Amino acid sequence: APHLARDAQGRLMLEGCDLDALARQHGTPLYVYSSASIAGALAAYQRGLAGQPHLLCYAVKANSNLGVLRLLAGLGAGFDIVSRGELERVLTVTGGDASRVVFSGVGKTAQDMQRALEVGVACFNVESEAELELLAQVAAGCGHVAPVSLRINPHVDPKTHPYISTGLKSNKFGIAHDRALAVYQRASQLPGLRVVGIDCHIGSQITQSDPFLEALDRLLDLVDALAQAGIAIHHVDIGGGLGIQYADETPPAADALLRQVIERLHARGHGSKSLWLEPGRSLVGNAGVLLTQVQYVKPGETKNFCIVDAAMNDLLRPALYEAWMQITECVAPPASAPRQRMDVVGPVCESGDWLGRERDLAVQAGDTLAVLSAGAYGMVMASNYNTRARAAEVLVKGDGHRVVRRREQLADLWAHELPLE
Ligand code: LLP
Repeated sequence: APHLARDAQGRLMLEGCDLDALARQHGTPLYVYSSASIAGALAAYQRGLAGQPHLLCYAVKANSNLGVLRLLAGLGAGFDIVSRGELERVLTVTGGDASRVVFSGVGKTAQDMQRALEVGVACFNVESEAELELLAQVAAGCGHVAPVSLRINPHVDPKTHPYISTGLKSNKFGIAHDRALAVYQRASQLPGLRVVGIDCHIGSQITQSDPFLEALDRLLDLVDALAQAGIAIHHVDIGGGLGIQYADETPPAADALLRQVIERLHARGHGSKSLWLEPGRSLVGNAGVLLTQVQYVKPGETKNFCIVDAAMNDLLRPALYEAWMQITECVAPPASAPRQRMDVVGPVCESGDWLGRERDLAVQAGDTLAVLSAGAYGMVMASNYNTRARAAEVLVKGDGHRVVRRREQLADLWAHELPLE
């Protein structure tokens, strides 16, 4: 991960901040994010997009902390949202400006649509014919015209984990490629709608360029067919999905991928179209770590366990996807310290509650461990299972840092409950 390195004493630093010291100051579990990494990741996209009309919409679901959103808004990013909650978060950091927001998701309610129309989102990425009809009704009902794009299911294999593949025919997402023309024709006739674009999102943690280029080709086939039918498309949104390095993956750099995408767009005669994107993980994933303290080292009959104070409720990816995320000591142990192979597990009462398996670590109770590449789909997927308070979050910049979310207090966890007398 960029901006993560050990100093001469072997202490793990994120930018100029000592992670072990942050853990001791703010307690654990603690999420820590690097503003320089986020800015650097965004800059790679911006380099790749230079000279091409575009809109980059950060997928808020990857990490929706207001500190992170404010940083990205300040650097010129737009936002891809999938709920009214995410919309309200974005409005908080943009001062109410929704003009760079796209609204995705298969289950938008009439209420969601109403609010998004009121604040003036840039585009609704519509995922079904029924949604299109409802959107037209809601828009006409409140005197607005809804800018729409249809999310096409391009039936491209992203070659990633099945839980995070979204562009196959068997997925719940998008409108079938075969139906697209008919649905666009309907959209262009419905009052209350204005066709502006076309979009897709084929999956996440994609580590090759080909699936993106294939998906783009499938979209451009439709753009051509639509032009024949007299329906003009102004922007092509290729979604998010670019992967990051967790272990030995070698995803293309964002600027290199974009050069290929833009070259294809031009080669097919659509160079003047605006290119829209919805990256999430690749902007924030490698910018974050989850810090956790070792509670016990427990030798087992067949394996050893390192029991830490973070659990599946804090970081669900290992339990849910068997995701491998690197775990390392925040203070490098002396070279002579014996390493033991162990499973790093949390305190939650589930066998699936692990953060890493068969890791060679030299640790004792009280030490701080860092789970790397935890900036995306970490805190946002946290829960209160086992009545555990969610972690605090810190954003570092140089050798300074800010708490961008306070640790939940236990009483927060039942504040909305209504016990019977
Ligand atoms: N656009 C849409 C419509 C999406 O559904 C997603 C992610 C994105 C953009 C951003 O994709 P990204 O660039 O982050 O890959 N929780 C899973 C990942 C789920 C992704 C869902 N959709 C994980 O932890 O691996």
